[in-house]
Amino acid sequence: MRLPKVLVIPGSIRAGSYNGRLAALAVKELALADAEVTHISLADYPLPIYDADEEARSGVPRNAVRLKQMMAAHDGVLITSPEYNASLAPLLKNAIDWVSRVREKDEPALAAYRGRVFSLASASPGRFGGVRSLLALRQVLEVGCGALVLPEQVCIPQAEHAFDEKGNLSNADAAGELRQLIRRLVELAGQIP
Ligand SMILES: Cc1cc2nc3c(=O)[nH]c(=O)nc-3n(C[C@H](O)[C@H](O)[C@H](O)COP(=O)(O)O)c2cc1C
Repeated sequence: MRLPKVLVIPGSIRAGSYNGRLAALAVKELALADAEVTHISLADYPLPIYDADEEARSGVPRNAVRLKQMMAAHDGVLITSPEYNASLAPLLKNAIDWVSRVREKDEPALAAYRGRVFSLASASPGRFGGVRSLLALRQVLEVGCGALVLPEQVCIPQAEHAFDEKGNLSNADAAGELRQLIRRLVELAGQIP
């Protein structure tokens, strides 16, 4: 039996990013949960700010096509999302928007978002742990892009104190929630035909 393939996308490329650290931990937990994991950085898929005129002139950028193909090659996608002004950050939103514009051959629209399962987590120094970013991201993915998003999600508040020196979550409840989220993601990703 093949292992479910899960892609991990940190929504921040900041040095020392809390969402980068949460993504790295998720990668470790996914491997322990018997998933085949790919961990990417949006820094490797630089994209201009979406501009419909530019798209009409030059088409969808190659990096958007690469990112779409990377998503499409996986059964599950886990995104860790920073919160900016009670919403998702522009780096992540811009990548999602560009990928939503990719249409290869005769495939239906939004192919990268359909046929796989998404799972969301966030970390923030604030006391809400980025939950408002996940609500906005859920709307974008589910309502905007037609994705199936797990109802469970994990938000890590006061992220500057949340990780120990090994990169694990110091709070046992939070660590358990992440493990549970990942187990569910792997279970559902394993059912993708
Ligand atoms: C423009 C801007 C707006 C922000 N707004 C929020 C916010 O609404 N809620 C919050 O919890 N943190 C907010 N923050 C703080 C971010 O959560 C913090 O910078 C965090 O470290 C970003 O995630 P990262 O560590 O993964 O890069 C904001 C930061 C910036 C730069």
